[in-house]
Amino acid sequence: ESELSLRPKWISEYIGQDKAKQKLNIFVKAAKGRSESLDHVLLYGPPGLGKTTLANIIANEMGVNIRVTSGPAIERAGDLASILTNLGDDDVLFIDEIHRINRTVEEILYPAMEDFALDIIIGKGPSARSVRLDLSKFTLIGATTKAGLLTSPLRDRFGVMLNLELYETKDLKEIIIRSASILNIEIEEDGAIEIAKRSRGTPRIANRLLKRVRDYAEVIEDGIITLGVAEKGLKILEVDELGLDAVDRKILLTLIENFSGRPVGVDTLAAATGEERATIEDVYEPYLLQIGFINRTPRGRVATKKAYDHFNIPYIEE
Ligand code: ADE
Repeated sequence: ESELSLRPKWISEYIGQDKAKQKLNIFVKAAKGRSESLDHVLLYGPPGLGKTTLANIIANEMGVNIRVTSGPAIERAGDLASILTNLGDDDVLFIDEIHRINRTVEEILYPAMEDFALDIIIGKGPSARSVRLDLSKFTLIGATTKAGLLTSPLRDRFGVMLNLELYETKDLKEIIIRSASILNIEIEEDGAIEIAKRSRGTPRIANRLLKRVRDYAEVIEDGIITLGVAEKGLKILEVDELGLDAVDRKILLTLIENFSGRPVGVDTLAAATGEERATIEDVYEPYLLQIGFINRTPRGRVATKKAYDHFNIPYIEE
């Protein structure tokens, strides 16, 4: 029943992301066929799309161990050195938010990725010398919201780059039906579609909404998630028909009302909404772009007619 058990363990169970899956299937089979470790993999895309899940699937498919850490958790070069020296042959090292590792840590990664070697400096001053330690052949899987956030030397050392995209409603519906079966809750297809439509293209949100609608269905209704039950449950959760939350609405209404449709820079939007620039760029914008509520122009973001219509605000063509 935990979050973990909702996660697929094999590529064949993983719904959606067909392009990424197709590539992975080939590269995993090829590496296994040669009894080699998989080349380093960079996963990039908005939060909640299953980057950690995919890293676990890759390790599982390769039949190797996985060690999980994150960019901000690796504070000093020594932290990374100790992780690297403890990896076994062909193991996966997963570094989430890899764009947040610091410079000195990043420099340890270059020889580790390229030559499976760790260069350590012994001594200080003129007598200092560098000693090279051999590491096991391992697969680094890095995850980040945008590939462009990595420095080019780091990006260039990944042999496989997989771009994860926001999910379509039909894929989210399948994920919700699969999760409902694991959670032992009866759901009708219409109910699953309704939750899917409001999940902002994101499985993590779909699974969270499913669990809360299940609570509602079990306590207030007769335990079956029909379309009507999903609608009433989501109304109590204050999730609107498109899954927009208070911050989405603030962003859109700022564009429409405070700037009267003129292009707005992301820093201005951040100041007006009280959100971090990176949160707006990584969490909010991808979905608003996907549903066609905002456009990015060279001079900034603008709300589209669709967004005006959503709020019943008259749209005046320039
Ligand atoms: N749960 C979360 N993401 C999933 C996916 N892509 N496929 C199946 N189940 C999931």
